Amino acid sequence: MTTSAGQIVLLTGTSNPKLAEEVGKLLNTEVYNPITKFADGEIRVKVNKNMRRNEVFIIHPTAPPVNEHLMELFLMIDAAKRASAAEITVVIPYFGYARQDRKEQPRVPISSSLIVKIIETSGANRIVTVDIHSDQQQGFFFGPWDNLYGSYSLIPVIEKKQIQDLVVASPDKNGVSRAVAFAKRLDAEGVAIVFKERDLDVNNKSETLGIIGEVKDKNVLIIDDMIDTAGTLVNAANLIMEKGAKSVRAVATHGLFSADAVEKINQSPIEEVFTTDTISVQPEIVNNPKFTVASVAELLAEAIRCIRSGESISERLMT
Ligand code: R5P
Repeated sequence: MTTSAGQIVLLTGTSNPKLAEEVGKLLNTEVYNPITKFADGEIRVKVNKNMRRNEVFIIHPTAPPVNEHLMELFLMIDAAKRASAAEITVVIPYFGYARQDRKEQPRVPISSSLIVKIIETSGANRIVTVDIHSDQQQGFFFGPWDNLYGSYSLIPVIEKKQIQDLVVASPDKNGVSRAVAFAKRLDAEGVAIVFKERDLDVNNKSETLGIIGEVKDKNVLIIDDMIDTAGTLVNAANLIMEKGAKSVRAVATHGLFSADAVEKINQSPIEEVFTTDTISVQPEIVNNPKFTVASVAELLAEAIRCIRSGESISERLMT
């Protein structure tokens, strides 16, 4: 009797098939995209591959349009569960709704917790993310949740620049531990923190209030998990330059670049932006000299190898 039990099956949706293909190449495994649409816009999932007792990995960032891509994810998980997959791992390099991770004012949902509950109810056994907005969200899920670091892909690219007199800055107080980790890895002279106040009544609006730390005559590298409208980043960069920095650059794992974000960055004093392909890379930043994109494909492929072999992800990918 021949058996295909225990084999790997890779699925992807429509949000970043290129990244999934690259992961598939590294794992020498075909990637299946089972998504089509009915005339009325309903999503249809049909996987043309046996998944019975197989290890299924769904590589699918829930990037914009977030709600559409979430629905694709839920339906792919359900299809794999009903096809008797042995284990279903959802690899969500960018996790939409992750910023809504707490009840910060009355009468609001904890959206990210609800999304995780739906992922769990759909049948996922494990979650893999890259630089999830806040680590504690892993507690929303009952099973294992491996959060990988984009620094694995980004640090080698930044190191090549050999930036002297380097200070790493966090654009808000919540990103300080991320900035400290980068500062250690890049052997920076120090860390600075920009104070940002969000307007809770207006989406994507914030104001920079001041800086703790020395940036005068330094080359400053701002570290954030994501760039959405680029308001946070450009405000921080302007303040840093006002305080006498020699130059300002930025690193953000997730490049959403909504609205006129790229234009804002082009017009700003920011010299370079380092980002990754957790979200499908936008045409405006390809061949734009200010932007460098590092791929997370190898990081994801290595994580999938570790999950399958039982090797430690932290020892292999987080040192
Ligand atoms: C906020 O907590 C995040 O880490 C980012 O700083 C923020 O979401 C970026 O959004 P925007 O680019 O619209 O300012």
